[in-house]
Amino acid sequence: MMRLISIALDKSKVVDWESYPFTVPAVRAINKIEVRSRMLFFVGENGSGKSTLLEAIAGHYGFGPEGGNRNTQFASTETLSSIDPLRKALRLAFSKRTGKGFYLRAESFFNLATYVDNLGVAWAYGGTSLHNQSHGESFFAILENRIESSGLYMMDEPEAALSPQRQLAMLAMLHDIARNSEEIQFIIATHSPILLAYPGAQILSFDDGAIREISYRETQAYQIMNGFMSSPELYLHHLLREDQHSLFSNDVD
Ligand SMILES: Nc1ncnc2c1ncn2[C@@H]1O[C@H](COP(=O)(O)OP(=O)(O)OP(=O)(O)O)[C@@H](O)[C@H]1O
Ligand SMILES: [Mg+2]
Repeated sequence: MMRLISIALDKSKVVDWESYPFTVPAVRAINKIEVRSRMLFFVGENGSGKSTLLEAIAGHYGFGPEGGNRNTQFASTETLSSIDPLRKALRLAFSKRTGKGFYLRAESFFNLATYVDNLGVAWAYGGTSLHNQSHGESFFAILENRIESSGLYMMDEPEAALSPQRQLAMLAMLHDIARNSEEIQFIIATHSPILLAYPGAQILSFDDGAIREISYRETQAYQIMNGFMSSPELYLHHLLREDQHSLFSNDVD
């Protein structure tokens, strides 16, 4: 069974602790992370290091740092080099390594779409140029067409492209895929309280300078969304500490 089993940092391979990526607290504190689920989520505050580790794992596995699969290497050398020291110091244990899968970054989605167009391989992504579809449509086209029966599938904030409805659809799709193949594993950095609800997922928090496992209801994504949605008025009252009704109402008067 193809699976990432653990993520560790070989500290003897770290050349410079004073520069990125080792200046990121959660990254420099990596000890050994046991991966026990085929649905692994990275959560944490903006800037806590999720994309950094995701990118390093993707690079280690052989994916281009800007996304795509092993055959798409269109990254700038700058992106490559900044993450390189971490990639080299990472120790990843796999039960089997097929090399299949992809790495999807919202930030480089545009580049990936151009790359696919230039290669003339839009057929492999559903037949329509990714540029000629909406952000969410093209993202979904990739999910529907590029997930094979095995491999490592890594995504960085997929919810950026997706409506709540499509996030639910994505959840159902991932579940379908995972149920039909033991050989598939997902690693997803996300802030989405919908995606994080995936049953049996392992959630790693990057907050407070360390990577540790937390439960769904312990995530900020869940707690803040839940608190906010259960009473937006009360939440805003505490947050803004003023009568927020007066802020914009004058505009229309
Ligand atoms: N190339 C770089 N050089 C120096 N610092 C960087 C570089 N890339 C990212 N950083 C810094 O490293 C930290 C972690 O960034 P990272 O992108 O991994 O955060 P993140 O958890 O993915 O955040 P977000 O939720 O906003 O996507 C941030 O403080 C960021 O400013
Ligand atoms: Mg990020």
